[in-house]
Amino acid sequence: MTLPPDQVSVRAPAKINLQLRVGAPRSDGFHPLATVYQAVGLYDDLTVREAAEWSVSLAGDEWVDLSAVPDTGENIAIRAGRALAAYHGLERSARIEIRKGIPVAGGMAGGSADAAAALVALDRLWDLRTSDHDLLALAATLGSDVPFALVGGTAVGSGRGELVEPLTDHGEWWWVCRFSQEGLSTPKMYADYDRDVPCPPEPVIEEALLDALAGGDAEDLADALGNDLQAVAFARRPDLAAAADDGLDAGAVAALLSGSGPTVLFLCRNADHARTVAGEMIARGHDRVAAVPAPVAGAHVLPKEPKL
Ligand code: C5P
Repeated sequence: MTLPPDQVSVRAPAKINLQLRVGAPRSDGFHPLATVYQAVGLYDDLTVREAAEWSVSLAGDEWVDLSAVPDTGENIAIRAGRALAAYHGLERSARIEIRKGIPVAGGMAGGSADAAAALVALDRLWDLRTSDHDLLALAATLGSDVPFALVGGTAVGSGRGELVEPLTDHGEWWWVCRFSQEGLSTPKMYADYDRDVPCPPEPVIEEALLDALAGGDAEDLADALGNDLQAVAFARRPDLAAAADDGLDAGAVAALLSGSGPTVLFLCRNADHARTVAGEMIARGHDRVAAVPAPVAGAHVLPKEPKL
């Protein structure tokens, strides 16, 4: 018999949207989406331990603004933990440590990654064996992007983004992420979009994107990328449009806003090309850049660190 672990660590990835098509707001205020998510190699790591009450502690890479993340019961990881406990009728709580590598309010679903990681970690810590179906349903109650953070890889998202279907992706893609010091508010971006595009068409994913993913060619993928929130974000933040131009001048195959921004993404041909583009961006004064592979796995338990 194996004893339950006294702590569990889970890693969850950032997401980008290869296509983000946004319809007119629904009666609940959310926007119907047709999107293709891709999980990229930028992560939050989360560790849970049983505790008498809920608490969260935060650490992070130098470009992550931790001051914008609540360290109270408002934190989405604690909300995820409470939801999982309630679902199983348990009165248990945990201490949660989060090490963030995903920028806060960066359009890369860092909060959603933490929620997904908390669900997976606490499910293991408490040996609950929640079914995938139920875990995905719980995830959807926490945020539109949380189910995808569980699934990872590349997937179509529909509904308000919470309905995910894995997709064939034969590519070994490389992206350069250009982060911003100042975040953008997702609700504000959607509100600006409603104002600028009062009658958007029904959102659909273009076939060319699915073909490009199955084919694995970066030039084909470049032609199929698109984000309906990009024009709104670039109008509000001209520095982002300028960063996109710099990346294209630096030789990137395409530039794309990540989600609701402000992270700007540059598609590259391979790892070497990504390193070159990242170096060029740094030389042009963009000091917060990272080259990342995609697609990567969704939230997964990390092996225990070996005891010396
Ligand atoms: O679902 P989530 O909590 O991540 O959404 C954050 C905010 O983004 C929502 O409150 C809403 O304003 C906006 N949103 C939206 N339509 C979506 C997803 C998010 O309007 N499909």
